[in-house]
Amino acid sequence: MEKHDQAKVTAQTTVHNLPHPSRAATAAPASMGVSAETWHSPLAGGMPIIFGAGALDRLPDLLLSHKPDKVFIISDQRVFHLHGAELLQSLSPHFAPEIILIGEGEGEKKMSNLEFLCEQLFERGITKSSLVVNFGGGVTLNIGGLAASLVYRGIRFLHVPTTLMAQSDVIVSNKQGINFAGGKNRLGVFATPLAAVADPHFFRTEPLRQLRAAAVEYCKNAILLGGEHYQEALRFFSVPDTFSAPQLDRLLVNSLKQKFEIARLDPKEKSLGLMLEYGHTVGHALEWLSQGRLMHGEAVYHGMNVAGQLAHHLGIMPVEELKKQSLLLSRLRGIPPIPKDISVGQIQASVQRDNKKVGKGMAFILMKAVGQVNMQDGSVLTPVCEFQLNSVLLEYWDALL
Ligand SMILES: NC(=O)c1ccc[n+]([C@@H]2O[C@H](COP(=O)([O-])OP(=O)(O)OC[C@H]3O[C@@H](n4cnc5c(N)ncnc54)[C@H](O)[C@@H]3O)[C@@H](O)[C@H]2O)c1
Repeated sequence: MEKHDQAKVTAQTTVHNLPHPSRAATAAPASMGVSAETWHSPLAGGMPIIFGAGALDRLPDLLLSHKPDKVFIISDQRVFHLHGAELLQSLSPHFAPEIILIGEGEGEKKMSNLEFLCEQLFERGITKSSLVVNFGGGVTLNIGGLAASLVYRGIRFLHVPTTLMAQSDVIVSNKQGINFAGGKNRLGVFATPLAAVADPHFFRTEPLRQLRAAAVEYCKNAILLGGEHYQEALRFFSVPDTFSAPQLDRLLVNSLKQKFEIARLDPKEKSLGLMLEYGHTVGHALEWLSQGRLMHGEAVYHGMNVAGQLAHHLGIMPVEELKKQSLLLSRLRGIPPIPKDISVGQIQASVQRDNKKVGKGMAFILMKAVGQVNMQDGSVLTPVCEFQLNSVLLEYWDALL
C-alpha cells in the first residue's frame, strides 16, 4: 500500500486494528507527584499548557469547549500505532475524528507532506469551524501546526505532544514550520495553538536515546540561565537512574520553568529569546547533514561544544566557564559522535545557510559565562569569521577522532 493511501484510515478501523499499550498499563502511578496542572505560556497571550499525569483526560472537555464542527488528527505512523487507539478512545464519546498520518522522523518535515496534509484536510471536509489536533513529536507538531495555519489562513489547532522533546520544548514555542531547500525550519509561521496537552505517560514508550537527546535542550537552558537552574541540572544528572519515570517528570517541570523564564523576556523569540538557539547554528547543520543519524538534541550537544570553544577561542569565554559548561554536558553520557563522513567544509557551507546570518557573515549565540550570553551592539548574535569557525571545527574534529 502506498504511504499516502495507508494514511486514509478511518477512526473505526484504526481502533480495531492497532495493538496498543493500554493507558492503565502505562499511566504514571499517583505517587509520581506530578498531577495535571495548567500553566500559561508567556508566548502569545498565555497559551494554556496542561501537563502532568492525567492531562489527556482533560482533552475531550477542552475540545468540546471550542465547539468544533469536525476534529482532525494529524500524527505519524509510529505514534499512532503506539498511542492512537488510546487517543481515539478518550475522544470517542464526543468525536469521530478524521485521521491523517505521515511517516515518522525528521525527513518527513517537508514540503510534499505539507501539501499532502493540506490536500487531505480539504478532501475530508475541513471548514473554518474545524479543529486540528497535532499528535506526536516535534516533527508532527511543527508540520501539522503549519498546515493548520495555512488552511483558510488559519484553522484552530492544538498540540498533544508525545515525546519528551516536544513536551518540554516544542510546545512552549509558537513556531510552526518545515525544512526546505537544504535547511532546517526555513518555511514557517508564528502561530499559537489553542492549547497543548502534555501527558507524560506518552513518552514512557520512547527509547532511551531519544530521552537523552531531549535532555540536551534541558542542559542548554541550564547553561543559558545559570545560577540555580545550572545547579539543579547538575543535581539532576547525579542521580544513578537518570531517566527513571520520576526523574523524567522532574525534567519536564524543570524544562518548562526554564523555557517560561526565557520566553517571558522575548515572546517572539526575535531578540533575547534567540538565545534559545544556543548550539543550534552548528547543531542544525549537523542534524541536516547527518540525514537522521544524529537527533536534534544530539546535534545541538555538539553545536554547544563548538560554540563554547569558539567563544573561548575569541576571548569571550574564560576557560573556567568553558569547563563549567563541559562539566554539565559531560553528564549526558552516551551522545553519539559526529558521523565520520561529515566534513568540516560541509558544515561551513551549511552554516552559511543558517537563518541567523548577519549580512553576508555568520552569526553565533556565544556565552561569556554560564548564565551570561554575550551581547554585541545590543544583539545576542556575535558575528564570526569563516576562518575562526574553521579552526575551531578542525580542533573539535581532531579531538573526536
Ligand atoms: N520551537 C520549536 O518549534 C521546536 C523546538 C525544538 C525542536 N523542534 C523540532 O522538533 C523536532 C524534534 O522533535 P522530536 O524529537 O519529538 O522528533 P520526532 O517528532 O521526529 O519524534 C522522534 C521519533 O519518536 C517517535 N515517537 C514519538 N512519540 C513517541 C512515543 N511516545 N514513543 C515512542 N516513539 C515516539 C516518532 O515517531 C519519531 O520516530 C525537530 O524537527 C526540531 O526541529 C521544534
